[in-house]
Amino acid sequence: MNRKTSMIAVAFTLHAIHANAAATENCSPTIGEHVFETKCAMCHSVDKTKGTLVGPNLAGVFGRAIGKLPGFAYSSVLAQSTGKWDEKELDVFLKSPSAAKPGTAMPFTGIKNDADRASTICYLQQQR
Ligand code: HEC
Repeated sequence: MNRKTSMIAVAFTLHAIHANAAATENCSPTIGEHVFETKCAMCHSVDKTKGTLVGPNLAGVFGRAIGKLPGFAYSSVLAQSTGKWDEKELDVFLKSPSAAKPGTAMPFTGIKNDADRASTICYLQQQR
């Protein structure tokens, strides 16, 4: 590695560490639970024994394939999505469901506050 490439490598590493630190600082599962109870729980359960409400059960949704929970009739945009619900996918979807997945059947305008959204995602991450 020459001097220039190693400088670039250092810059990238620092950036990655910083991005991680920011995500952790912004994340409060307690706030996330409050957001979930007030904005999501009328349509979603995170208790896997409760099954489907208006929306699919969200126990284990973090890391789950998008739009593939057996027995739930998804909109075609979710059913045809590929990939998994990771931090990035959830962030974009929960910010504005209809912008992220045009035609989604989830009637929710989105969590516009960045810290509230990050906290909701880390709360979901803990629901197994
Ligand atoms: C008024 C009811 C309603 C509310 C409120 C609601 N959802 Fe949904 N949600 C749905 C429906 C219906 C779907 C299925 C959407 C589709 O098929 O396009 C869904 C889908 C989802 C999915 C995709 C799950 C999968 O199996 O692919 C996630 C993640 C999700 N919602 C999270 C949330 C979160 C987090 C909140 C609160 C911030 C929330 N939803 C609020 C009804 C709702």
